[in-house]
Amino acid sequence: MKVIKTLKRLRNEIRRARQEGLLIGFVPTMGTLHQGHLSLMQMARKETDLLVVSIFVNPLQFGPKEDFKQYPRNPKQDAKLCKDVGVDIVFAPADEEVYSSGFDTYVDMTKLTSKLCGKSRPGHFRGVMTVVTKLFNMVEPDIAYFGQKDYQQATIIKKMVKDLNMNLKVKVLPTIREIDGLAMSSRNQYLTTSERLNASRLYQALVKSKQIIISGNKNADKICHAIISELNKIPKSKIDYVEIVDADTLEPIQKIERQKVVIAVAIYLGKTRLIDNIKICI
Ligand code: PAJ
Repeated sequence: MKVIKTLKRLRNEIRRARQEGLLIGFVPTMGTLHQGHLSLMQMARKETDLLVVSIFVNPLQFGPKEDFKQYPRNPKQDAKLCKDVGVDIVFAPADEEVYSSGFDTYVDMTKLTSKLCGKSRPGHFRGVMTVVTKLFNMVEPDIAYFGQKDYQQATIIKKMVKDLNMNLKVKVLPTIREIDGLAMSSRNQYLTTSERLNASRLYQALVKSKQIIISGNKNADKICHAIISELNKIPKSKIDYVEIVDADTLEPIQKIERQKVVIAVAIYLGKTRLIDNIKICI
């Protein structure tokens, strides 16, 4: 496995792989890897010939009051985990390698980015789209892998790839969870012991709402309220949003009938922002 920090070296490797006709798989990450990230890599390892993982905490997707500085960084352990999965190249550029001085070009979208997390994190998805576009241009992957955990992000990336005719396939893989149901996330490290114990109640509320829908209640408002009352019972929690949306447009829906919907939630637990979602196909 090669750990590459410069674009020049990366391009040499990619050129060589292309000449050999290898299929390039790509998993973009911000590091502090967990089983959620590794599941994407494992699938990419099976499906492609050259597996590239990027580890880059992207300053552009953090708001001024967000956790860019304290975001956990763990390069040694990340490298070991990547090696164990069989990653070929870890691309871990410095900030200056990605954003040279005077950088002034951004990729953005209007509709999908203004919903759900976009409301409370203005500019976040512009930062994600910009860095992912840059990383796609650097790695030139045939297939890129994303997690359903960040459902809105994955939906935006798929749309961006389609809208801008980017020459790659995007695959979205299921959310990997801790034993008690909490979606794995690098940010879970911020939780105190008691917050961590309560954090699984987020997923439990989602599962419960799915059961309510399956048992015949199709009124989105009522289901949202049921989730909200569950979440309000969690100590030190503050709800950002609870929404039932169309799985493609992310538009809120009133009545759940014959369509794919996503129940998406974001809460603050103490200082930590947690997001989760489940998809329901009726
Ligand atoms: P990061 O949060 O490190 O996540 C990298 C990828 O892992 C994303 O596609 C995310 O959805 C996926 N992932 C995270 N937790 C997961 C889980 N529990 N189960 C399955 N997949 C999971 O998302 C980002 O980084 C950044 O925004 C990035 C796309 C790298 C751009 O900077």
